[in-house]
Amino acid sequence: MTKKEIQAYYQKKKILITGGLGFLGSNLAHALTNTGSCVTLLDPLFPEYGGNRFNVSEIEDRVGVILEDIRNEKLMESLVREHEIIFHIAGQTSHIDSLKDPFLDLDINCRGTLILLEAVRKFNPKAKIIYAGTRAQYGKILRSPVSEQDSMQPVDIYGVNKQAGEGYLWVYRDVHGLSCVSLRINNTYGPRHQMKQANYGILNWFIRLAVEGKPIPIYGDGNQLRDYNYVDDVTEAFLLAGAVPATVGEAFNLGSGHPVPFYQMAETIVKIVGKGELKKIPWPEERKKIEVGSYVADFSKFSKAAGWQPEITLEDGIARTVTFYEKYKEHYW
Ligand SMILES: NC(=O)c1ccc[n+]([C@@H]2O[C@H](COP(=O)([O-])OP(=O)(O)OC[C@H]3O[C@@H](n4cnc5c(N)ncnc54)[C@H](O)[C@@H]3O)[C@@H](O)[C@H]2O)c1
Repeated sequence: MTKKEIQAYYQKKKILITGGLGFLGSNLAHALTNTGSCVTLLDPLFPEYGGNRFNVSEIEDRVGVILEDIRNEKLMESLVREHEIIFHIAGQTSHIDSLKDPFLDLDINCRGTLILLEAVRKFNPKAKIIYAGTRAQYGKILRSPVSEQDSMQPVDIYGVNKQAGEGYLWVYRDVHGLSCVSLRINNTYGPRHQMKQANYGILNWFIRLAVEGKPIPIYGDGNQLRDYNYVDDVTEAFLLAGAVPATVGEAFNLGSGHPVPFYQMAETIVKIVGKGELKKIPWPEERKKIEVGSYVADFSKFSKAAGWQPEITLEDGIARTVTFYEKYKEHYW
């Protein structure tokens, strides 16, 4: 699908984005409003997560915002009726927090997803649902690059519950005939990500440390490979997943095609920001237990099905991100 065709597809479409004030949701909202679709954002702005009203300040007059929770069953039952495409992006996103409060993760990532699916089944079974899955569903990496058929052995509660969330999608596809797509998203970075804590979104967090001239902690040797995507490429992936018929009923990996060692990502940030320094320290026990090893994604399935190809290099993406936060720091620090 060309950019023009995507534009035409989304024009006047009624779209719901759960978690729409967060990092991925708000970037997607910007792209969708440019296509002329009617966008509703659902987000309770829980302070622990990345929701931020400023994320949509430029498009506030072109989107509907509902400050509510996906676990509000009655609201979801009425909301899904009015929307043709639902990007289900809301979630508890921290691996560490999922271990500290497993029931909250269960409630948001599993029960919340089920509430949405039930509402769609009962009141709008023609709607298309695009789910924000994660590389964490694979857990320990046994084969590289990781393809969609590889085994799933999540190492933390977040990964288990995101995997269950995707599993519910396939039950609703097979038993109730719903149109569902899952994108197993990689480490993503870029503008509109929370910058207040290190619990998730480590690349963005390292940018903050560098901007403040602080040491950047590298656990162990930092040689594990990571596959970073700039948010605009992930936004494009969401748009394609929602528009291309061949994606329906399938799960797809996202990846960069240019994996780098973890320490090299941090070095690149220091070089671009011109401040900060890397500091190697031993793995904290809680992190070591859930470290999965080098992750490199095989995303050829999505490229073939939807023509998706990531375009932004790590250097370019970091430079764009730094520029964004230099301008809007006061809204994120
Ligand atoms: N950013 C990444 O690198 C990445 C990688 C893999 C998967 N994901 C998935 O993408 C999704 C979005 O991640 P993000 O990076 O944008 O995080 P984020 O924290 O910026 O956004 C998540 C949003 O969901 C909202 N939310 C939380 N609980 C909710 C609820 N009960 N009802 C409605 N909204 C709720 C939060 O307020 C927040 O605005 C998550 O589901 C995450 O698992 C993200």
